[in-house]
Amino acid sequence: MSKRENVNVTNEEIENQKRIIRLVAEINAGSEKFAFVETYGCAQNVNDSERLLGMLEEMGYKKTDDKNKADVIIYNTCAVRENAELKVFGNIGALKALKRAKPSLIIGVCGCMMQQEHIVEQIKKRYKHVDIVFGTHSLYRFPEIFYNAENFHERVIEFVNEDGKIAENLPMHRDNSPLAGVSVMYGCNNFCTYCIVPYVRGRERSRMKEDIMKEVKNLAENGVKEIMLLGQNVNSYGKDIDGYIDFPDLLNEVSKADGIERIRFMTSHPKDLSDKLIDVMAQNKKVCKQLHLPIQCGSDKILKAMNRKYTSEQYLEKIRKVKEKIPNVTLTTDIIVGFPGEDNDDFEHTMEVLKTVRYDSVFSFIYSKRHGTPAEKMEDVLTKEEKKKNFDRMLELQNIISAEKNKEYDGKEFDILVEGESKTNPDFMTGRTDGGKIVNFKGEKSLVGKIVRVKITNAHTWSLSGELV
Ligand code: SAH
Ligand code: SF4
Ligand code: F3S
Repeated sequence: MSKRENVNVTNEEIENQKRIIRLVAEINAGSEKFAFVETYGCAQNVNDSERLLGMLEEMGYKKTDDKNKADVIIYNTCAVRENAELKVFGNIGALKALKRAKPSLIIGVCGCMMQQEHIVEQIKKRYKHVDIVFGTHSLYRFPEIFYNAENFHERVIEFVNEDGKIAENLPMHRDNSPLAGVSVMYGCNNFCTYCIVPYVRGRERSRMKEDIMKEVKNLAENGVKEIMLLGQNVNSYGKDIDGYIDFPDLLNEVSKADGIERIRFMTSHPKDLSDKLIDVMAQNKKVCKQLHLPIQCGSDKILKAMNRKYTSEQYLEKIRKVKEKIPNVTLTTDIIVGFPGEDNDDFEHTMEVLKTVRYDSVFSFIYSKRHGTPAEKMEDVLTKEEKKKNFDRMLELQNIISAEKNKEYDGKEFDILVEGESKTNPDFMTGRTDGGKIVNFKGEKSLVGKIVRVKITNAHTWSLSGELV
């Protein structure tokens, strides 16, 4: 079936890591120990942290949110923009005092930043209180890395420069939530010229559908109702395996799992969004009517420089099809403001797209230069101040559109999957519509995990309030 070789980490290697997990668990038996894991970045990293915590739990560490109590502190880092990296450096620096007060504390940094050689060098030289460093490709080797640091009191710095593998059957920590993320593929082959992800996450590789289904069924048995299928470009699912099923087929497959009521996915690249996917979204009742389709910029000149492989017209054509086949679809996007070469005229094209599509919400970022990417050497037209001005104008426009779109919900009834208590008021529960809109309403905690009918009584820019029907 699969023509791929050496993509999965061997069973032998996984068993070896599990043996080390048991070894550490024996050493820890009888003592109470705690692990603090902080995650930066996207859903992929959240998913990796669940595996990290799964391994730590089996080694005898309980999850804690209190750094001062922790015996192990791990930062799972993101490299997508400079401010994400600066935050991590700041937070690692701040751990120096904690390490001095408690020398047995193990400090680890992992994730996407640690898949870049120049960053690893910086940690090695300037942050000597960090005990372990490992990148995304070494995640499955965490038990061995950890054991060596803990047992031999030495720094372990692992940097492997390869395409990345798939590690199945690792333990996984799941919070007690009706929602869960399931990775369907790893890596990215698109090499958008601004983006670091292909360099730190390796080549595209799809998980076998049997492994995905095993995970989904297991989650359903444990009370999970909504699955978010994860990948940097889920539309490429299966393309790396000869004659394999594609992403729309996978959606239909996952929807057969008993107990799973809703399925979402992230992210789709516009160039690969197929009619078949739109049809499955329209027809399959379990697939949520929500699409995140990053356009990045409305100017064709800039889209070309970004290597996005579509024009704004091609993008808008896909949006028209989506709206036609899925009338109440919720649409969101990502926008980069101030890509090298972008002038005010290019930016106006982006503003036009926002007015045409009328997204429910937009995730916008000011361009950040990434080491080793093609755009690193491209030159700016706009100054920092001009970029900021455009960015603010865009937010202003989108806030108006988001508020107007939410206003359309006022007075209507929706099915809400209850996720948990509202963060601001414990008497209120929070959940989402099928389209992914956040709704807060007065209700009991016993409703968590259930789908309830809620009438919207108040529409805000970012969320909706309502009452149980
Ligand atoms: N794979 C996803 C998203 C990956 S990163 C996709 O292709 O849509 C999430 C978002 O971060 C991107 O959509 C982009 O808008 C933004 N981003 C990525 N690199 C960036 C950079 N160098 N500067 C600013 N924003 C960036
Ligand atoms: Fe980055 Fe482009 Fe890949 Fe998304 S598709 S992860 S933006 S290279
Ligand atoms: Fe960041 Fe890595 Fe995700 S760079 S956005 S955590 S894949």
